[in-house]
Amino acid sequence: MCEKCGLQEENYVADFKELAPVLEKYGSVQGSLITILQNAQDIYGYLSMDAINYISQQTGIKPAKIYGVATFYAQFRLQPIGKHLIMLCKGTACHVNGADLIEEAITEHLDIRDGETTEDGLFTLNNVACLGCCSLAPVMMIQSADGEETYGNLTKDSVKKVLAEIQARA
Ligand code: FES
Repeated sequence: MCEKCGLQEENYVADFKELAPVLEKYGSVQGSLITILQNAQDIYGYLSMDAINYISQQTGIKPAKIYGVATFYAQFRLQPIGKHLIMLCKGTACHVNGADLIEEAITEHLDIRDGETTEDGLFTLNNVACLGCCSLAPVMMIQSADGEETYGNLTKDSVKKVLAEIQARA
């Protein structure tokens, strides 16, 4: 039994076995906390309190410190994300070419704002900096278990059509 949070150690082992090799590699390396958290997020999609407690148990770093790091950096998520992660570019070129209107269309269609997930768990919206394809501005990328797809030269209508197509396939 973990003294810090009361969870059974066997549960930790069963639930976080994918993280074990990461902790074996970095657990005792000073200054590796961010790397461990990045790996944990890549594996589980977000950093749950159970994952934070597990990392604490394995590294000896206090959960409050891990939580503090996880909440300080915008790259870390503490809530699960939707099956489709919409990364809407708000970089300069996209901003100039109407990214705000695209965000408005997403909000109209899905009723979510930056950082939020739809109630059905299908979509999460994240505003991001330049996606590196400014000639296609305004641009969004949608990431899912099937991979990533980039959509450029978006209009309010075209973004709603893309979202509706994904909803129809779900
Ligand atoms: S500013 Fe949006 S892709 Fe570069």
